[in-house]
Amino acid sequence: MIYFDNAATTFPKPEKVYEKILYTMKNIGANPGRGSHKMAINLAEEILSTRIKIAKMINCDDEMNIVFTSGATESLNLALKGLLNEGDHVITTASEHNSVLRPLKALNLKGVSITVVPIDLKGRVSLVDIEKEIKRNTKLVVINHVSNVLGTIQDINSIGELCRRKEIIFLVDVCQSLGLLPIDIKKDNIDLLAFSGHKLLYGPQGIGGIYINPNICLKPLKEGGTGSYSNSMVQPEVIPDKFESGTLNCPGILGLGAGIDFINEIGINVIREKELNLCKLLLKELKKLPFIILYGIDNNLYRTGVVSFNIEGMDSSLTGNLLDNENIAVRTGYHCAPLIHSFIGTINKGTVRVSLGYFNEEEHIEVFIKALKKIYKNI
Ligand code: ALA
Repeated sequence: MIYFDNAATTFPKPEKVYEKILYTMKNIGANPGRGSHKMAINLAEEILSTRIKIAKMINCDDEMNIVFTSGATESLNLALKGLLNEGDHVITTASEHNSVLRPLKALNLKGVSITVVPIDLKGRVSLVDIEKEIKRNTKLVVINHVSNVLGTIQDINSIGELCRRKEIIFLVDVCQSLGLLPIDIKKDNIDLLAFSGHKLLYGPQGIGGIYINPNICLKPLKEGGTGSYSNSMVQPEVIPDKFESGTLNCPGILGLGAGIDFINEIGINVIREKELNLCKLLLKELKKLPFIILYGIDNNLYRTGVVSFNIEGMDSSLTGNLLDNENIAVRTGYHCAPLIHSFIGTINKGTVRVSLGYFNEEEHIEVFIKALKKIYKNI
């Protein structure tokens, strides 16, 4: 099968990720922080080492400000529900995923006001549009770094600078960028950074996390056992324990650590260059087909290998089914991003999305283009 659904979850994973998960379960499958025996201590050290790897990746000085969650959805829920109260105002964009829009909708019903700034046809958000929506009670700006529908890269550096100047908290969803693009929480003035482990970090599903600026006070989403201050009924204030109640997903965390090792060994720039070259080829070949409607940005510097398109006159899900018959896996429909479609003209049909990964090759694109020609010929 040709796998072009890497924005949903990268597949396959590097061998060392599979090996690490199996090793963890078979050899150090204890409960970190819950025992004074060697196995629990070893596992706690391995977990710390993954925290350090993530902290380094985003230029965070203290790995204790990295909190593990079940994934980016939990991270975003923690940030939004932990921060926003009745009377607060938040600015977000039409490009967001439901992992931001749905918690915001729930908060809206509790008295949080929301402004959604528009995007242009290419999926870009304008800094001027964000700035003009800032109000006296604006507490937060939340935006994805890269669109999961169009692959458009937002200028988080300028938005972060604006937020810092206006003393507004800045939350960035880096699900479609961490592991592919350099991210620097200091340079980009990011206060909260939500990430997924199973996408561009090549870890398993069920693991993700969030960087939390220690100056920001968030309410935890859950309370419970943390292994620390066990003789108290009160949730500890110390981070990460405050947000990590319950047994951690240890095989997931160590698998994620192995995914980050893979990225560091190859080099983030090499991964980005390979993906960019594949993306250029894909776009060049798609543009040669007159029956293809392409969406999003043309300039490769401002996009990643997430490419949305439609076959003229054909529903996106039908195109996806026909590609599946050719053994090519893509995602179709709305991609859990309901607002973006009214801005790019796909409101009633969604898009067919190809999302490239490090393990894709040029031959995959050749086979894919041939399949599209065959599908169109048989309409
Ligand atoms: N958010 C993931 C996607 O875009 C699941 O497919």
